[in-house]
Amino acid sequence: MTDLVLSLDVTDRTSALSIAAACAEEVDAIKVGYPLVLGTGLGIARDLADLGLPLIADFKVADIPNTNMLICDQVFEAGFSAVIAQAFPGPDSIAACVESAHAHGGECYVVAEMSHPGALTFFSEGVPEAICRLVVENGADGIIAPATRPARIKVLRNLIGEKKILSPGVGAQGGDPAEVAPLVDGMIVGRAIYGAVDPAAAARAYAPYRR
Ligand code: C5P
Repeated sequence: MTDLVLSLDVTDRTSALSIAAACAEEVDAIKVGYPLVLGTGLGIARDLADLGLPLIADFKVADIPNTNMLICDQVFEAGFSAVIAQAFPGPDSIAACVESAHAHGGECYVVAEMSHPGALTFFSEGVPEAICRLVVENGADGIIAPATRPARIKVLRNLIGEKKILSPGVGAQGGDPAEVAPLVDGMIVGRAIYGAVDPAAAARAYAPYRR
């Protein structure tokens, strides 16, 4: 039904590599963000790449176009296969991320709506819908949409057509995998897997929802 993306938000190299190796057969991709890269360095991407899984850089890139391009070039040269960008800096900033991603044979996802309660302060009143239109115009590969609000995923799906949806918020934030899996291309799960006593078993529990 959907890919399972492990959000590897631990901060030390030993834990990251052992959890990733233990879960490698149970997940379809690994998402790495600031916690792990700031804790271990960008070289963690090369170490994780040995597992042969796609690596998504969750840096929520949000700067002027030139800086976005410089950031994304570093991301892809480090071994990542996809990057996540914020939309609010505007279409030219997203375009820079898309250009860098595609020049490296990678993908660019844009945050359309966040999954935590406070996100509704700014991601409301048609903003996610406008972001989806930008994603279509800019040729980005997909969006990030909240597993905590499946009804919103359905609305945004209608706006982006065949582009992909990656969805964080299952598990620790309360999203229900049975409800979310049929709606998305990738379900992102962090704490419910990496924080478990047995991360591989926790990841395996999502097997019924994987395609
Ligand atoms: O631990 P948990 O499963 O809540 O982790 C979710 C991951 O997805 C975190 O890395 C978080 O930063 C990220 N994320 C999110 N909501 C978004 C975008 C990214 O929770 N809209």
